[in-house]
Amino acid sequence: MDHFQYREGILHAEDVPIPTIAAAIGTPFYCYSTATMTRHYNVLAGSLDGTGAKICYAVKANSNQAVIRTMADLGAGADVISGGELQRALAAGVSPDDVVFAGPGKTRGELAQALAAGIYQFNVESEPELRALSAVAVEMGKIAPVSIRVNPDVDAGTHEKITTGRKQNKFGIPIDRAGEVFDLGAALPGVAMLGVAVHIGSQITDLAPFEESFDRALRLIDELRAAGHDIRRCNLGGGLGIPYGGETPPSPADYGRMVKRLTANRQLDLVLEPGRVLVGNAGILVASVIHEKHEGRRFIIIDAAMNDLIRPAMYDSWHEIIPVAEAAADAAFSDADIVGPICESGDTLAKGRAMPPLAPNDLIAVRSAGAYGAVMASTYNSRPLVAEVMVHGDQFAVIRPRQSIEDLIARDQPPAWLQPGSG
Ligand code: LLP
Repeated sequence: MDHFQYREGILHAEDVPIPTIAAAIGTPFYCYSTATMTRHYNVLAGSLDGTGAKICYAVKANSNQAVIRTMADLGAGADVISGGELQRALAAGVSPDDVVFAGPGKTRGELAQALAAGIYQFNVESEPELRALSAVAVEMGKIAPVSIRVNPDVDAGTHEKITTGRKQNKFGIPIDRAGEVFDLGAALPGVAMLGVAVHIGSQITDLAPFEESFDRALRLIDELRAAGHDIRRCNLGGGLGIPYGGETPPSPADYGRMVKRLTANRQLDLVLEPGRVLVGNAGILVASVIHEKHEGRRFIIIDAAMNDLIRPAMYDSWHEIIPVAEAAADAAFSDADIVGPICESGDTLAKGRAMPPLAPNDLIAVRSAGAYGAVMASTYNSRPLVAEVMVHGDQFAVIRPRQSIEDLIARDQPPAWLQPGSG
């Protein structure tokens, strides 16, 4: 359930009519609903009630300061993947003690930055990383809290580009080698080997691969404990899918029940790293129709493009697209490709969608765009970075203004020999 609904035929974000925002700031823009984010966080947290699990919001899904702060106010920590994300999370008010740092390629500079901040945990993904972390920690006179990310070799059944838990993927340490790595860590002076982490992919719509990977991680914890390691933490990653269209992902309640059943009586501090399930359906991308073109096919050309939302081009993902002014009951729908102005055929947001008649400047909304939307935007074709807006009841605020072309050009620095008049 989200808070983007028609009221008297006009799409609203909570109590704000979308055309009001468009009139104020132009298009395209992302629009996020506070009430939807809050609801999704509370449903997930409620499903884990009694487990004491730390919910570390995967900032990569949407790292706007306003979004991270909304999550932090609800009680979430942060899962970060770079020094930049760490800085963003801290700037938004997340306590370092609620930050986990994941990712297969942390630099020594990033390790030092996170050690200085005093984060809750490093999810370490390789032996070289473990050795480097220990060395940096020793130099700084610190002990790094570590969980080892294991690769359980489980197929998450999701898109090839976002599956991470099979042995051919670059992530984690093969689970059958984890024992050796814990022994290595126990012998290193700068790390405390506290837990096991697992994350098998994103947009997972079936409970079974989660259960299989959690079960493997928990059995590993039993073995490590039997071998004398003092394992106290288990990090279950993120990955819970959302309905974009026809999918029926597991409900947070079922997910929570499964987590409780598997972890009961194991005395573990749990961490979860959800991203998409918290913010995905809490955002839309609003665009204007530039014009239509009918050449054997109906093309609706809009002012948002693959640089603003890359998911359809990159993952063939399906997003529902609706007109902001609700179509009349007797409107003549016809199939259309909804495309952006970029010079690539891949710049297609949707193919063969039944759409009502639309005129230039009519607004449309691309739904389920709150996760991996604005954060993956680029300036390709010299298109300024898209604006972002947050709604709260009847208020809205621009939480990232649209970049100007002047800002974009000003970032380039032609060398002296190319300055006008230098020849
Ligand atoms: N933890 C780790 C270690 C991750 O790599 C990820 C996502 C998450 C947590 C959060 O996963 P979520 O709960 O959001 O599924 N750009 C792609 C998704 C990439 C996901 C990367 N890792 C997309 O647009 O579908």
